[in-house]
Amino acid sequence: MTDAAFDWLYPERIQLLSRRHWTPLGVAKKAAQFLADVPGKKILDIGSGVGKFCLIGAHFFPEAFFFGVEQRRELYHYSLAAREATQTGNADFINANFTQVDLSEYDSFYFYNAFFENLDGKDRIDQQIEYSTSLYVYYSRYLFKALENKPSGTRLVTFHSLEDEVPPSYQVVDASIDLLLKMWIKR
Ligand SMILES: C[S@@+](CC[C@H](N)C(=O)[O-])C[C@H]1O[C@@H](n2cnc3c(N)ncnc32)[C@H](O)[C@@H]1O
Repeated sequence: MTDAAFDWLYPERIQLLSRRHWTPLGVAKKAAQFLADVPGKKILDIGSGVGKFCLIGAHFFPEAFFFGVEQRRELYHYSLAAREATQTGNADFINANFTQVDLSEYDSFYFYNAFFENLDGKDRIDQQIEYSTSLYVYYSRYLFKALENKPSGTRLVTFHSLEDEVPPSYQVVDASIDLLLKMWIKR
């Protein structure tokens, strides 16, 4: 499987967003391997887009459950369609702002810099939602507090993150050479 082949699951507009906005296949596999360390783990992708991370993770790690929460209804619908097309049984998606989801229900978290769109005006997914620096700060602090409340041993993967949402109680245990991908465990 290649990224281009996977992206054929989606319409052309979504394929064109892939390089900038959706996790590359190799990264998704590596991140999922770290998060699915024991069978039965419930993994949440915060800002799941069209479901690429979750569907790749679910394919390679069938004993874990991958959930994605996505604020954009259109992207959420594409993730459901891709789940059906790939007949993936261990992935599910929620159409909501992540602040409306009970984060205490999940064991591990994947975060591909979902809030950055509030800071960077270039290459936005669409112009359908409000963007602001204060939303970036609000979301980052909200996630920081939720991660701080998780038990010791909680696993987190960040990709392209500014790390404003990562509490100091999380330690990096592995990273890619370019440091864009980081694996963290809560002390
Ligand atoms: C960089 S994309 C990553 C998509 C997916 N995680 C992946 O790796 O393929 C970030 C996504 O987060 C979503 N997002 C941003 N802020 C959000 C929020 N507060 N609640 C839910 N989704 C959010 C955006 O709509 C976008 O689809």
